[in-house]
Amino acid sequence: MIAIPTKSSHTGQDYLPKNVTETTKRSPNQSLLPLTAKINPHDHLEIGGCDLKTLVQQFGSPLYILDETTLRTACQQYRDNFKTYYQGESQVIYASKAWSCLAVVGVIAKENLGFDVVSGGELYTTQKALSQLGYSCQEIAQKIYFHGNNKSVVELEQAIEVGCTIIVDNWLELETLAQLGNSSPNRTIPILIRLTPGIECHTHEYIRTGHLDSKFGFDPNQLEAVFTYLTEHKSLDCRGLHAHIGSQIFEKQPHQDLAGVLVEWLKIGQEYGLTLPELNIGGGLGICYTEEDDPPSIEEWVKAVSEAVMKACKRSEIPLPKLIAEPGRSLIGSACVTAYTVGSRKEIPEIRTYIAVDGGMSDNPRPITYQSAYRVVLGNKMSAEINETVTVAGKHCESGDILIKDAQLPQTHPGDILVIMGTGAYNYSMASNYNRLPRPAAVLVHNGEANLILRRESYDDLIRQDCLPQKLLS
Ligand code: LLP
Repeated sequence: MIAIPTKSSHTGQDYLPKNVTETTKRSPNQSLLPLTAKINPHDHLEIGGCDLKTLVQQFGSPLYILDETTLRTACQQYRDNFKTYYQGESQVIYASKAWSCLAVVGVIAKENLGFDVVSGGELYTTQKALSQLGYSCQEIAQKIYFHGNNKSVVELEQAIEVGCTIIVDNWLELETLAQLGNSSPNRTIPILIRLTPGIECHTHEYIRTGHLDSKFGFDPNQLEAVFTYLTEHKSLDCRGLHAHIGSQIFEKQPHQDLAGVLVEWLKIGQEYGLTLPELNIGGGLGICYTEEDDPPSIEEWVKAVSEAVMKACKRSEIPLPKLIAEPGRSLIGSACVTAYTVGSRKEIPEIRTYIAVDGGMSDNPRPITYQSAYRVVLGNKMSAEINETVTVAGKHCESGDILIKDAQLPQTHPGDILVIMGTGAYNYSMASNYNRLPRPAAVLVHNGEANLILRRESYDDLIRQDCLPQKLLS
């Protein structure tokens, strides 16, 4: 847990990562601000060596600011800790649903991670980025895993064309793939089977049940029929099993239990004569959105998962599978902040003070969707004393468009820069054009340099797909 001092001495400084000299030793998911966050002599917040006020002057607001060091550090910690703690082969793949765009794929690919994609669009983005970076078709195929509970035939054909591993979710998909496989007899289709393991996580607690009410994956009682089917359909090269139990999880036990369940099923599958050399444990490690959040570090999580898989394999007397993990939020969530410009203020005496910013539920739909809590600092006055409780509202025509209820801030004025932390995961990727707001720009910051990675949408972008029927023009 991050210790925030009591209110009297409370300023934006309290949110900074401690021990900045040890930056890359910290676990990014345990930090509210990106690892490179600093206060510069102008009392402005600086990330990746870039002054946030200057970034807003240059690129406008709202602005997503993604710190390359934090993102790369998270990738390295996952990758290197699996090498340290797991005695078999391992691979970390980024759940690109958290934020999919060419530059994010590019940075993560440079750290040698693979990618989990869940739609033709994510597959296309990832493939485009990797081929522009110079990866061969074979390397691209090996890096991508394709998820989804209702992939279309077109998407399946796209995946077969790329040659990536398809994570099969249900009977329809399995049968469709077998048919597609028969029509091209010279190749086999690499697949994993997704199962619903009976372990359900609700952020701070979890339950184990025999059956789960989930739209994803095969129920365990269908698995033996699936194994039989696979032995009869040689065009499908089943590489192993997959399960994902939830997101923003703060405990290690659910994934340790999951390891045990998956290894038992690997053994059963191997008894059917399938080799099943891979085990994909999903993602789910949580991050700090507030000082009350207390997730394990990436290292603690990787160690717990690795040991659980090795122990289960020893017990079941099967060889160590290639262990795959597919984190999203804990790789990118803490690497990004969103900068907004403060606008209007409404004071309702003895009830509430609202301050409005120039974005809202369209660039961060998580508060209105999940009642998610965030923390905020005044990026242009980091040392100002926090002396106000205000509600940070978006600019959408919807009363629920509140980014932070009861935020603690210094006195703010129109034009000030508000910086909301922990916006790297599921913000841009779930952003919309509600009220026809153009989606924000994003910059990648590193060593004092800011590179535009997503252009701000223009009004022309907003009407790009609109069509006026001819009959209205006459
Ligand atoms: N693998 C699978 C199959 C998944 O469904 C997910 C996330 C992940 C991996 C990555 O999980 P993570 O490491 O990010 O927890 N929109 C929600 C989160 C939805 C997560 C869906 N699946 C949010 O904003 O909190």
